[in-house]
Amino acid sequence: MSEPTDRRYGPATLPGERGPLSAAVVEALRRPPHDLPADLGVDLDPVDPITDEDLQLTLFLCYELHYRGWLGVHESWEWQPTLLALRARCERVFEAALRRLVGAPSVPAAGVAAGLAELIAADDGPSLAATLQRRAGLAQFREFVVHRSVYHLREADPHSWALPRLGGPAKAALVEIQTDEYGNGRLDRMHAELFRRTLDRLGLDTGYGAHVDVAPAVTLATNNLMSLFGLHRRLRGALLGHLAAFEMTSSLPNRRYGNGLRRLGFDEVATRFYDEHVEADAVHEQIAAHDMCGGLVRVEPALAPDVLFGAAAGLAVDRLFAAHLLDSWAAGRSSLRTPAPPALPPTVSLVVAASAAVSPSQAVTA
Ligand SMILES: [Fe+2]
Ligand SMILES: [Fe+2]
Repeated sequence: MSEPTDRRYGPATLPGERGPLSAAVVEALRRPPHDLPADLGVDLDPVDPITDEDLQLTLFLCYELHYRGWLGVHESWEWQPTLLALRARCERVFEAALRRLVGAPSVPAAGVAAGLAELIAADDGPSLAATLQRRAGLAQFREFVVHRSVYHLREADPHSWALPRLGGPAKAALVEIQTDEYGNGRLDRMHAELFRRTLDRLGLDTGYGAHVDVAPAVTLATNNLMSLFGLHRRLRGALLGHLAAFEMTSSLPNRRYGNGLRRLGFDEVATRFYDEHVEADAVHEQIAAHDMCGGLVRVEPALAPDVLFGAAAGLAVDRLFAAHLLDSWAAGRSSLRTPAPPALPPTVSLVVAASAAVSPSQAVTA
């Protein structure tokens, strides 16, 4: 096991337990790889798997072993058979809940791209983006960024798992999208790095996985969904559908997020991540629906329902996420498991990039 030299890039610190199942997994991961007890299922029938803290954290703990791993956790845990078996049991519960949530989408005669457009047109969730643009205070915006950091600091990684599973037009289209997500190979343009600067400008910890511990189940579920689709070849259609829904619903909300930060007095370093997505995703939207999902279904027509399932599941879990934030704020509560910490000073390297801007400490106290 090697120690990281730079915690910006992971691995993250193991989060605290949230119930008997995650407690057993956290405890096991702290030790060298070994077989888990056979009866370690405890409650695998939660009332609502998507918002169950113990189940979602357990899935997240297992999935992270396939990304950057956990600090101090032996790398061989990634393929430990009894842990994989436990993950599979959790996944069956999670996937069944997702399928109950969205039903079986029917593919319109006009094709999968039209089906995606219909799903998005029917998406009537609460507008988190409008709230962040017009009304949210700084504390609420910081919470939103903390939630999203779980994904944005590894932006695009889950969908990259589709690459070796595809050939032909869908692969070419996915590569075109991912190339932009990864900044065309330029570190300073990688979307994850742009987001790191947003975190920094808001005085938040920029370390990979730094905010997992305070992210509630529904936030982990938005991530676990991508990992579930990404790690199972049989769900490659759902993975592409998820990415398409993401890209097709990104441009306008990102404009609003950027405008919300500007309203709060932040500069272009803070808003760049969002501004970048306004135009990029207007282009990605077309590539994702027509070239990527359309291209996949031309080669593998049987995957069309999966594409729409993945899109519908992504939209539905995101609606739950938005409702959680808005309901928490309406009730005067934090939407995090513990409120976001006070602002940190910006890091030196990022200060250089932002020398002409409002400092986060000025903005935070404004
Ligand atoms: Fe992006
Ligand atoms: Fe994009």
